[in-house]
Amino acid sequence: MNRLKGKVALITGGTMGIGAACAQRMAEEGADVVIADICRPERALGPGVDFIHADVGNEADVAGAIQHAHARFGRLDILVNNAGANPYYGFSLGVDEARYDKTFEVNVKGDLRGQYVAGYTSYALFADLLFTASSELSDGTLVH
Ligand SMILES: NC(=O)c1ccc[n+]([C@@H]2O[C@H](COP(=O)([O-])OP(=O)(O)OC[C@H]3O[C@@H](n4cnc5c(N)ncnc54)[C@H](O)[C@@H]3O)[C@@H](O)[C@H]2O)c1
Repeated sequence: MNRLKGKVALITGGTMGIGAACAQRMAEEGADVVIADICRPERALGPGVDFIHADVGNEADVAGAIQHAHARFGRLDILVNNAGANPYYGFSLGVDEARYDKTFEVNVKGDLRGQYVAGYTSYALFADLLFTASSELSDGTLVH
């Protein structure tokens, strides 16, 4: 417990599933947590856990979520790029362009937006991060 005391984490897609479990666990470890999601949590948030509506497919929303974390808790140490969408299931040749674009905007560009807006990385670093599940950086931790 308290391994994340004094740290602030922003978790995209933190309302449900893996993101919600990350939010709960990080809060248990003492972190202040901001959940950024297109869906509002159905259960009451614990102390030190905040929610902001943000679509990672929208750069302004991502910037707003990061600004919110700084405004609410004064810093941002951990960015969990977790939000993901699956608008299409099936053979890849059957996908239409709209759903292909949605998948790319959320699942690929959403991660990029988060790390660039947070100022966590450069092109050189990104090449390393892309193939790394979790990366400790000098000024923060980025989790894909
Ligand atoms: N569950 C698995 O087996 C598995 C396997 C490999 C990878 N993943 C990846 O892990 C991540 C989480 O998976 P999960 O199973 O918990 O998913 P989930 O569908 O249970 O939860 C996804 C969360 O992301 C949110 N979200 C969706 N689109 C969003 C957007 N545009 N902006 C902000 N939030 C958005 C949803 O509202 C939801 O809270 C996803 O990126 C998924 O692709 C999951």
